[in-house]
Amino acid sequence: MKPIIFVTRKLPEAVEERLRRDYDPILNPDDVLYSSDQIIELSRGADAILTCHTERFTADVIGRLPESVRAIASFSVGYDHVDTAAASARGLIITNTPEVLSDATAELTMMLMLGAARRASEGERLVRAGEWKNWSTSFMVGTQVTGKRLGILGFGRVGRVVARRARGFAMEIHYNDLKRMPIEREEGAIYHKTPEELMPHCDFLTLHCVASPETTKLLNGDLISLLPDGAIVVNASRGVVIDDDALIAALKSGKLTAAGLDVYNGEPEIHPEYRRLFNVFLMPHIGSATKETRMAMGFRALDNLDAVFAGQEPRDRVV
Ligand code: 8YV
Repeated sequence: MKPIIFVTRKLPEAVEERLRRDYDPILNPDDVLYSSDQIIELSRGADAILTCHTERFTADVIGRLPESVRAIASFSVGYDHVDTAAASARGLIITNTPEVLSDATAELTMMLMLGAARRASEGERLVRAGEWKNWSTSFMVGTQVTGKRLGILGFGRVGRVVARRARGFAMEIHYNDLKRMPIEREEGAIYHKTPEELMPHCDFLTLHCVASPETTKLLNGDLISLLPDGAIVVNASRGVVIDDDALIAALKSGKLTAAGLDVYNGEPEIHPEYRRLFNVFLMPHIGSATKETRMAMGFRALDNLDAVFAGQEPRDRVV
């Protein structure tokens, strides 16, 4: 008998095809966003769950999951939607999908950086609204990216790919992480021991740290005040790492020139003030949203499940 997998969201066709071939999947063809109660109900009899970051596996949900569930494979690199302590206490295996989305997320980060610096939102709105009437030497003048200093807070897989792409724009790379990377991984990036020490070196700042109690509201008013005047902030990691009120205040006061955001506190219900600011370039959490990457994420999640059911250690086990 094939293992039963409850799949919480609709996945790319090729991924669902492989699921049907190797497993007995409970699919979600209409892509309904299930409540916690529905997740528990639909997991009845399932051997594992294949989920996205949109479903929250709190200690309460994990405690109510049927005994049959042995593993949760997440179609995501971040796993802040899973209470890892509760999962570990229950003996659940949790896996994620690292590496395969670093390129797509780094591309989006570059787009946020360029879009914020070159006023993409304003320009696009102007053209679409038929309000582009003329040209002048001061029309839509933005900030040049080439040759500037880029600060990367969180120098993991995504952060390091961003550094490589940014070098194509002749940017000087500075970073902070919990510890200094081996020199070959730095590829010339300059390490700063604390976020506070990194800030003064950032004409652009991009956040690539994991969401955790330690990183919640990491970019707050104090840290922003240490950035050079006119800096640009970009975030394609998780919304919680930013204190929205502090960022909005800095965007309004002119302390920051602009921001590019793909992730938000409470998304998709974002802080309403972002919608009113002209100097923010906003995207709806699409860091990994390319055909190639979404497929690779699905296959990577299935590789992890294959290992679980073959009695092997899954490659991307986080719990
Ligand atoms: C995905 C992400 O959109 O992988 C992550 O952590 O944030 C995004 O790439 C999402 O998680 C898919 O579940």
